[in-house]
Amino acid sequence: MPLQDINHLTALITGTSGNLGINIAKRLIKEVPHDKKLTIIVTSRTLANANQTIQQLNSYNLEEVKRSAILDFDYSLMDFTDMVSILAAVYELQKNHKCIDLLYLNAAQGVYKGIDWWGATVECCTNPIKGVTYPTYKIQEVGVKSKDDLGLVFQANVFGPYYFIHKLIQYNMFGNSKDPRIIWISSVMSKPSYLSMDDLELLKSNESYEGSKRLIDLIHLATYKQLSQKYHIKQYLTHPGIVTSFSFFKFLNPITYYGMLFLFYLARLLGSPWHNIHGWIAANAPIYVSLYADQEFDKQNVKYGSASRWNGKEYLKTDEVDSTGENDVLTFFQSLTKQWDEKLKNQIVNTRTL
Ligand SMILES: NC(=O)c1ccc[n+]([C@@H]2O[C@H](COP(=O)([O-])OP(=O)(O)OC[C@H]3O[C@@H](n4cnc5c(N)ncnc54)[C@H](OP(=O)(O)O)[C@@H]3O)[C@@H](O)[C@H]2O)c1
Repeated sequence: MPLQDINHLTALITGTSGNLGINIAKRLIKEVPHDKKLTIIVTSRTLANANQTIQQLNSYNLEEVKRSAILDFDYSLMDFTDMVSILAAVYELQKNHKCIDLLYLNAAQGVYKGIDWWGATVECCTNPIKGVTYPTYKIQEVGVKSKDDLGLVFQANVFGPYYFIHKLIQYNMFGNSKDPRIIWISSVMSKPSYLSMDDLELLKSNESYEGSKRLIDLIHLATYKQLSQKYHIKQYLTHPGIVTSFSFFKFLNPITYYGMLFLFYLARLLGSPWHNIHGWIAANAPIYVSLYADQEFDKQNVKYGSASRWNGKEYLKTDEVDSTGENDVLTFFQSLTKQWDEKLKNQIVNTRTL
């Protein structure tokens, strides 16, 4: 982005209260030139989390960064497992903001039951790097649906955010931006084998979280060209490597938490590029594609990963993404979008002239 040409940057980060989300916000506060006005829109499912996140970001600026230009915050309460809440959030956003320049699709959830401790011990003892990079011992529930009667993880992590983009475009929220960018957050765990084309809502899968990340990869590949040609929006695919996740703490006690951290550092020392551990380093790839990527030279058909060296020095690592199935996924998403447009058509009337 030619940052020098922009006077006011508005960024929306979904799931800002999480470790990655808050660090994306902090890096924006630090790295967007300090003489530019910056607006950060925090999203959460709860007002308490939104308020707390804004307080933390505000203190970070006042105590450590001290931007000279205006830094302001807004919040948007939205739950991606509730289509009406997505629509309501977009409706409020278009009333209060001229445009969104940067949209980080960071929020995610899994339906975890717990950890198979015996499996975890065996995996981590026999191959510690694999055990803490591609764990198979997190137990996920199968067949969980949202109250909208969609696969819950499918809706929370992929279809909800996809529909959010669709509605933001309908309300012309990118039209007034000089260089709008959408940044999807995928995962290192998104191999094609996690997704069955017969189960796109991930209802039969016991790896629905990983399947949702594979869907993100495919929906990105299936849409980025059209977004660019039709709406001048640049869309990028990123992943944060491995980072301590606030939402997973509930399954750990102090012993297992520090044991996990120890294995993360060990994996990094042994050469794993993905054990970033800290949210700040994990935010490197999303920040790179949103603030620094060159529209001409930085490819959009690859996945930008946040990586670090043994000593925690950050760098970027890009990977090719297997595109098998992208058209099937796009057709499915387009058809579901039509159905939801129809279902929601009387919920909120758009009074703006598009
Ligand atoms: N942690 C890792 O090692 C890792 C590895 C690969 C990829 N990732 C990806 O990186 C991103 C951030 O990870 P993280 O570990 O920082 O996550 P996290 O701490 O679990 O935070 C995710 C945030 O998403 C929000 N959220 C959850 N369900 C939602 C829903 N249904 N609707 C709206 N918001 C929802 C939550 O905010 P509220 O509770 O405030 O609503 C939560 O703070 C995710 O996309 C994750 O899949 C993480």
